[in-house]
Amino acid sequence: LIYFDHNATTPLAPEVAEALAVASQDIYGNASSIHRVGQLARQHLETARSTIAASLHAAPSEMVFTSGGTESNNLAILGLARGKHVITTSIEHPSVLEPCRHLELTHVRPGPNGVIDPAEIARSIRPDTVLVSVMHANNEIGTIQPIAQIAALLRDQRAAGRTIYLHSDGVQALGKIPVDLQALGVDLYSISAHKIYGPKGIGALYVRKGVPLRGIQYGGRHERERRAGTENVPSAIAFARAVELCAPDPAPALAAIRDRFESRVLAAIEDVEINGAASPRLPNTSNLLFDGVSGEAMVIALDMKNMAVSTGSACSSGSIEPSHVLLSIGRTRDQAKSSLRFSFGRYNTVQDADALGDAVIACARRLRKKARQEAHLVRA
Ligand SMILES: Cc1ncc(COP(=O)(O)O)c(C=O)c1O
Repeated sequence: LIYFDHNATTPLAPEVAEALAVASQDIYGNASSIHRVGQLARQHLETARSTIAASLHAAPSEMVFTSGGTESNNLAILGLARGKHVITTSIEHPSVLEPCRHLELTHVRPGPNGVIDPAEIARSIRPDTVLVSVMHANNEIGTIQPIAQIAALLRDQRAAGRTIYLHSDGVQALGKIPVDLQALGVDLYSISAHKIYGPKGIGALYVRKGVPLRGIQYGGRHERERRAGTENVPSAIAFARAVELCAPDPAPALAAIRDRFESRVLAAIEDVEINGAASPRLPNTSNLLFDGVSGEAMVIALDMKNMAVSTGSACSSGSIEPSHVLLSIGRTRDQAKSSLRFSFGRYNTVQDADALGDAVIACARRLRKKARQEAHLVRA
């Protein structure tokens, strides 16, 4: 099976699997224990924290380990903005949209290009706004948001005496595009290990020094009182190893494979469009609309050909809802249901991309032909 669903999750890198196996055996202490077994775990935890912080241009004390992207997003939003007004976007991941539903909320919509206009954020600011949450890169269509520009406009607000913090969900950006938190100018930034060839169930939240974040779960005084619960030291070690293995700029290699795939498909079949084509996109992500083809049927047909891809939208209670992201950029329900996400990764080769292209072309042709025959039968 060839895997093209890296935005859903990535396989463990062999180097990470090795680090995780060794640490799970050897570093079993509780990082809060006073004895040497505990102190060894503490040392490893802090080394892992430093490695991750350094790669993002942050200070170690600004990194809080969590159980993943979902928890980091919940902690950022509910830990800062409970009872206050928040501005977010209509294309966020559910782990941002859902906690925001418990707050005073304004949604900003992107243009048809899938990018948020910072001026729309500025227009949505109210006297009681405390937080703006805009994802760095979208998981479905890969569009990259103008985070540094949004940070600059919030700095202007600060100069005028109003403090509004900026959170960005960086879960899809890390490992695919360079991430420098100082250059981005964010106050809070979420990351997750399983999107960068690390283990599932560990992530981190960057909390800029001085940001008044309060923990959202009650218990021990771990993680500087921002996240109660015994730290998952082996996974933190493996997360740091995964961060170390990320190329400084993986974009050229990934984009070469993705662009080759897109050209092949677009040259061979008609009525295919790239969702988010006109915008800066993650180098590994391709979201294609195949007019008149069921995305779900394509995923199943490709699975039969040993290729794992995704519709990009959530499947709940057996029925696939059209993607809220595609609807937000102005696609119809039918168009959204005819779209597929291909997300390439570190171990994909040019040959893999060609094989995928050929399979996609064959499946789309076959499904279109079948749909035409069925329509003909209904008419007859
Ligand atoms: C943009 C984005 N944010 C957050 C998450 C959630 O991360 P995790 O699976 O680590 O909870 C995901 C994962 O699907 C994502 O794509």
